[in-house]
Amino acid sequence: MKYGRGLRPPSRSSGRGWRWWIFRVALPPTLMLVFLLQPLFYFLVHRGSQQGAASAQGDSARSAELLSWDARIQDLDERRGNRQVDAWSQGKSVQQLDSQVQPKVDKAEISSKFDHPSFAKPEVAVGWPPSNLLSIQMLEFNRQGRWIPAGQGPVNISRLAPDAIPIVLYVHNRPSYLRVVLDALSHVHGIEETVLIVSHDGYYPEVADIVGEITFTRVKQIFAPYSPHNFVDSFPNISPGDCPERPAAGEVQVGCVGDADQYGNYRAPRIVSLKHHWFWLMNHVWDEMVELRDFEGHIMFMEEDHVLAPKAYRTLQVLAKVKGERCPHCVAVNLGMPLHDGGNPGGNYFVADWMANMGYAFNRSTWQRMRDGARTFCTYSDYNWDETLKWSVMAHWAPVRLGLHAAGPPIMHMGKCGLHGQADGAGCAEIDDQVAAFLAQEADRPPPDESWGIREEGQDLNRIGFSGWGGWGDRRDHKLCMFFAKLPEGLRS
Ligand SMILES: *[C@@H]1O[C@H](CO)[C@@H](O)[C@H](O)[C@H]1NC(C)=O
Ligand SMILES: *[C@@H]1O[C@H](CO)[C@@H](O)[C@H](O)[C@H]1NC(C)=O
Repeated sequence: MKYGRGLRPPSRSSGRGWRWWIFRVALPPTLMLVFLLQPLFYFLVHRGSQQGAASAQGDSARSAELLSWDARIQDLDERRGNRQVDAWSQGKSVQQLDSQVQPKVDKAEISSKFDHPSFAKPEVAVGWPPSNLLSIQMLEFNRQGRWIPAGQGPVNISRLAPDAIPIVLYVHNRPSYLRVVLDALSHVHGIEETVLIVSHDGYYPEVADIVGEITFTRVKQIFAPYSPHNFVDSFPNISPGDCPERPAAGEVQVGCVGDADQYGNYRAPRIVSLKHHWFWLMNHVWDEMVELRDFEGHIMFMEEDHVLAPKAYRTLQVLAKVKGERCPHCVAVNLGMPLHDGGNPGGNYFVADWMANMGYAFNRSTWQRMRDGARTFCTYSDYNWDETLKWSVMAHWAPVRLGLHAAGPPIMHMGKCGLHGQADGAGCAEIDDQVAAFLAQEADRPPPDESWGIREEGQDLNRIGFSGWGGWGDRRDHKLCMFFAKLPEGLRS
């Protein structure tokens, strides 16, 4: 007779046999222990095989997956960019549109599959570029186009004089410098004939108030929505889990978010913010601002610590005219004199060499060439916009990348000067003294004359092939930068 398990008669033996000890006493806890420790074994074995064999197969699978996710993120970028365009044309905020059309993206799916550290935070990948209330308000503010003084209405810049040169002043948070700059600007001859666009990197009430008080010309303020300064603990600012900016030499970073540059350093918001701001404002001013859409002339750009002499604007107009008539290879004009051999400040001639980074002006066709190089600009490993532009974009225009300027610069950079009551910067006295000395010297020099000759100076090509100063290795920065260049395509159609 066969017994089913449950029917087996109890053992009647008085002494319990070895089988009983093994199967009833020893085995169950052993099995239980093995069962409980299984994840640990699995973890150790798996880890060992990954480390040992360098998991070539795993790497290629991962890189294939990365590529496929890159494509998806890019698709998201484009949709996001299109929504910005729609928001603009429909007069709505991106958030309003987002609530109408939610992209079909499964966050859980992304977080389970996409394990590259740069995108470990699914919200970074999905909500790209990251928005918050402040950034959305800034998009709205820029779109509305409020001009100062109040009540003057939007300015159609193509109705200014044909040789008018709008001025774009980009500022961060140096109110004491800005006051000096604006005071000098108010004394610039012809300033009332043009307009001033002030682009803010971050919202600082004191800075915005100073600009709001300008009466010497028409002003529009714009705000860079994706400035790191608009965010507290998320990209484009620092996110929890980001790699340390400067790891100790030879220390390998594991499990943190970020991509090191060629010198082993990771991103720092305060370092990348100016390049982002510069590229955002270029795209915004040339391709988004309704007021400038039909404008075909030159636009000049300067920074919050650049002081202009009274003749600066007229000098710029002369330079633009001479460039058009006599310097077919020039792509820009500029007030600031770059360092070059043989230049004699104060000589009665123009110099054509390259585009300097102070008080430079160019027209839409030069901008379009720059914009054509957006991908290179955005991925070149250098946090300086000017070095990036020169060595990654304009280097490919050689030898035609000349900027025209007068031999003496009617612009001064006071970045290193001391403020009242503070220690002087290296080689520079207190601001007021320095500015007074600069203005006196410029007053003594004759304004440029259209008939002056042009000297072509050798171009500094010795850094062609230079791979950049670093500080711009993080793929999130590359993506944000490229996002700025995508905006205009829809707006202009
Ligand atoms: C600006 O003015 C120009 C010239 O009068 C005109 O052709 C253009 O349509 C205007 N643009 C806007 C946006 O009003
Ligand atoms: C803009 O500048 C470029 C380069 O200097 C020049 O070739 C072009 O003729 C200019 N366009 C206009 C409309 O003046």
